[in-house]
Amino acid sequence: MSDFSDELLEWYRLSRRELPWREDPTPYHVWLSEIMLQQTRAGTVKAYYRRFLKELPDVRSLAEADEDTCLKLWEGLGYYSRVRNLRRAAQEIMEEWGGEIPSGSRQLIRLTGIGDYTAAAVSSIAFGERIPAVDGNLLRIFSRLSMYEENIKTPQARKDAVSFYEKRMPESTGAGGKDNPCGNFNQALMDLGSMVCLPNAQPLCGGCPLSGFCKVHADRPHRESELPVMPPKKEKKTEKLTVFVIRCGDRTAVNKRPGRGLLAGLFELPNAKGHLNTDEAVDWLRSHHVEPLRITSMGGAEHVFTHKIWKMTGFEVQADPFAEKEIPFIMADAGEIRDRYCIPSAFSAYMMRLAPGEENAGQ
Ligand code: ADE
Repeated sequence: MSDFSDELLEWYRLSRRELPWREDPTPYHVWLSEIMLQQTRAGTVKAYYRRFLKELPDVRSLAEADEDTCLKLWEGLGYYSRVRNLRRAAQEIMEEWGGEIPSGSRQLIRLTGIGDYTAAAVSSIAFGERIPAVDGNLLRIFSRLSMYEENIKTPQARKDAVSFYEKRMPESTGAGGKDNPCGNFNQALMDLGSMVCLPNAQPLCGGCPLSGFCKVHADRPHRESELPVMPPKKEKKTEKLTVFVIRCGDRTAVNKRPGRGLLAGLFELPNAKGHLNTDEAVDWLRSHHVEPLRITSMGGAEHVFTHKIWKMTGFEVQADPFAEKEIPFIMADAGEIRDRYCIPSAFSAYMMRLAPGEENAGQ
């Protein structure tokens, strides 16, 4: 069997990315970074990671923080259930584990928001457990190394990848943290996936430490990017929305979304279903006790979620200040919106209008 772990670990020693969560890989640091990295690139995560740790440096502070504070720290990262679950898991760790993050993947996986991948990543990197952390990078690399020609997005493919890596992973030294071989093996593959064995471009096989172990490279050179085999993409549903930037003096209307469903519990710009024309928009505003003095179109914008696409049109509205008290939304100034209300980047095209240069960080 071709065991490539020495080549991989040596490449990682020389070529690994400098990332803030690798400087001091405590269980809390590794856990937080892995949750942030689930759907977001490392380059984007860095600043969020540092800011989050500054505000909430340990499990206790996270468990005791209120949900809006956590959401605000996540603003722009998307997939907000990640941070809600993170906070819930911190509370579970306080209640069930005396504030100590459990060290085994089997215990970690019982915490809210931790699945197979995250449990394996945290336990291998922070505690040195010998377990492959199979994410999209490791699946892609596995498919090329072994010329796996089945659909890669199936539970069976994942199992096959786990056993492929289990056979090649170095032994655990029993300790976690910086430079433990099992954590490094997983992180080396993650780095290889983002720097060399690329998904949407021709992989850089000339610089790959594993090219001598790669079946597709040997059998079908220059056709490595045909793997992995992906299932056909599902069409995303489209929803039409009309978004309102309702101003009254230096305040703008924001609204809390329901506690369940898409972007649950976050704040939004008031909006209506469908694409309204100006007359319909005025009717909608009046039915929400907003008396428009001026209304101007802001044009269209689009936001793509995992399962749906919002096609938005927008209006900027000057509301009559004499009737401000009637408005059933939160009227907040730019400072309050910046400091307190988490408004997801789906609205960022219209948030730009709020206070140029002061809009919140979008992706
Ligand atoms: N993606 C997910 N986890 C990662 C890690 N620990 N390092 C780099 N990229 C990652």
